[in-house]
Amino acid sequence: MTSTVDIHIEKTKKSRVSEHDINNVPFGKCFSDHMFVAEYSDGKWQKAYITPYADVPMSYAMSALHYGQAIFEGMKAYKNDKGEVSLFRPIENFKRMNKSAIRMAMPEIPEEIYMNGLMELIRLDSAWVPSSETGSLYIRPFLIATDEAIGVKISDTYKFVIITCPAGKYYSEPIKVLVETNFYRAVKGGVGFVKAAGNYGRSLYPTKLAQQKGYQQVIWTDSETQKYFEESGTMNVMFVIGDTLLTPGLSDTILDGVTRNSVLALAREWGMKVEERKVSIVEVFEAIDKGTLKEVFGCGTAATIAQIIGIGYNGKDYALPPVSERKFSTRVDDTLRNIRKGKVEDTLHWMMKVS
Ligand SMILES: Cc1ncc(COP(=O)(O)O)c(C=O)c1O
Repeated sequence: MTSTVDIHIEKTKKSRVSEHDINNVPFGKCFSDHMFVAEYSDGKWQKAYITPYADVPMSYAMSALHYGQAIFEGMKAYKNDKGEVSLFRPIENFKRMNKSAIRMAMPEIPEEIYMNGLMELIRLDSAWVPSSETGSLYIRPFLIATDEAIGVKISDTYKFVIITCPAGKYYSEPIKVLVETNFYRAVKGGVGFVKAAGNYGRSLYPTKLAQQKGYQQVIWTDSETQKYFEESGTMNVMFVIGDTLLTPGLSDTILDGVTRNSVLALAREWGMKVEERKVSIVEVFEAIDKGTLKEVFGCGTAATIAQIIGIGYNGKDYALPPVSERKFSTRVDDTLRNIRKGKVEDTLHWMMKVS
């Protein structure tokens, strides 16, 4: 899809970047100087602009708030030692955004608007990209329905917005997870395979219950049989059993993670055996008993690799192998960081240079 919308740019009069220690800020709370906005009405994308980051007036009748036509993406920009800024696989997030838009009956965003808006914004706010080893600029593109109208129907108007915030490590420690068999993140025929805001709203209560029991996250199971692992919190989940990397195969209940795809690509490049299929709770607990379960980890943009060192199921806690023995996920974590920070050659062409 193409578009000829020009981006009007209004720069901030005074950057706020010096007011923050961008290499040391809490995740998702400190926003950079500018934001990108594109507006859709009368069946087409009308205008696009970058302005100083600010609150905006909003009607309480705005349809996204009531009927959930709201989707988003999460991606990151990195700064190398020379101060150059690059994005990690941004086209994958663009494609997934439009997959989400189609499923939620929202207009697709033309590639030109998405990518030009993104590149201009990151170029303008490149001073906000942390240079620390584990730092990055987290980028949040989102699309919301903006009709001022009560009544369940497809909105006629939308805003596509990109905001960004400097970010450090998401989880500072390895995590313990609870296998959740009463509540489900996604159901067959639902919207689990897209990044619809409602998927996250529904996950909060079960996650709160798990956290009250001392776990950091849940591992979701399938709603039909409760026999198979699906995802962990907002990450795809992976297991190394023997010499095989196992992860649930894609379906309409599993998000097609960019990190998941990247981890699988590296594993295949390194000649590791990879299986994308249903992963049953029984086989994982059998592997724990036999000592063949080597690694369990979540993967996603925010955390990259989150080591899972404990798993609770049916009232019992199981300890998993220590992180120091996890060769594969440690190598993946290091390799992804080195590719992103420009320390090794980007042979898979994942980085897109911004400046
Ligand atoms: C439910 C869910 N699964 C998996 C992921 C990981 O996807 P990605 O690697 O593209 O960030 C995310 C994060 O976006 C998520 O929200």
